Amino acid sequence: MTVVYSLKNVVKERLIDGVGFRLVVPEIQISAQENIALVGHSGCGKSTLLDMLALILRPDSSDEFDLHPVGGDNHDLGKLWQRDKQSKLSQIRKQHIGYVLQSGGLLPYLTVRENIELPRKLLKLPDDDSIDSISRVLGIDRQLDKLPGLLSAGERQRAAFARALSHRPSILIADEPTSALDPITAQKIMAVVMEVIRGLKITLITASHDWAHVYKMELRTLKQEAEAIEDGKVYQSRFTD
Ligand SMILES: Nc1ncnc2c1ncn2[C@@H]1O[C@H](COP(=O)(O)OP(=O)(O)OP(=O)(O)O)[C@@H](O)[C@H]1O
Ligand SMILES: [Mg+2]
Repeated sequence: MTVVYSLKNVVKERLIDGVGFRLVVPEIQISAQENIALVGHSGCGKSTLLDMLALILRPDSSDEFDLHPVGGDNHDLGKLWQRDKQSKLSQIRKQHIGYVLQSGGLLPYLTVRENIELPRKLLKLPDDDSIDSISRVLGIDRQLDKLPGLLSAGERQRAAFARALSHRPSILIADEPTSALDPITAQKIMAVVMEVIRGLKITLITASHDWAHVYKMELRTLKQEAEAIEDGKVYQSRFTD
């Protein structure tokens, strides 16, 4: 199976005067169609790592940070960040990655349909039935003409998934996408999402602080451990295979 992400010694620091947080990824490989969960307590760096995998956040250093999306070229992300190739990074992100934020992140002044259409418009993809079909599968086809503010929290997250998937990315990144929902709604939504990503052969990378939830979804988890170092000034968190 193709290796999609290959990371070696990727570091991101959030230090002020040498005090704060450091995320270290000694070595991680993620293959096509794997479903991964980053599990760990609040503040351990899950969103920081997801943002780097989503090409939104620049790593401070890396020995290797490669992305080889299915159907795309191999990209040396470490080098692209180093050379500040923002537009190239943004183009790779738009084409290959869908991102669901914890809060959904739908634009409140656009209808649900317009929100879901956005990634396709950015890529100048043709109008076809993809919006309707993904909305049907996710159970929000009757909500398409509403503004997001008129949806229930669960419907908004379904719409956020539809938006992240509408341009058919091969990678879906979801940062605690159901943490604001009751457990039954959360489980229902994730069951549908898992069906969709398996059907479309998508690589899923998600984050959660809920072990039981992740365990039920049968995801491969990355181990996280943390220690206070440098006289307790730096809280260093490591994600490993
Ligand atoms: N923009 C930022 N500037 C400075 N420090 C930040 C920034 N964003 C996050 N941090 C710090 O980095 C550390 C990791 O944060 P991160 O958001 O990655 O954790 P998390 O595991 O996603 O937590 P949660 O489960 O609460 O979402 C925290 O100590 C946080 O305070
Ligand atoms: Mg987070």
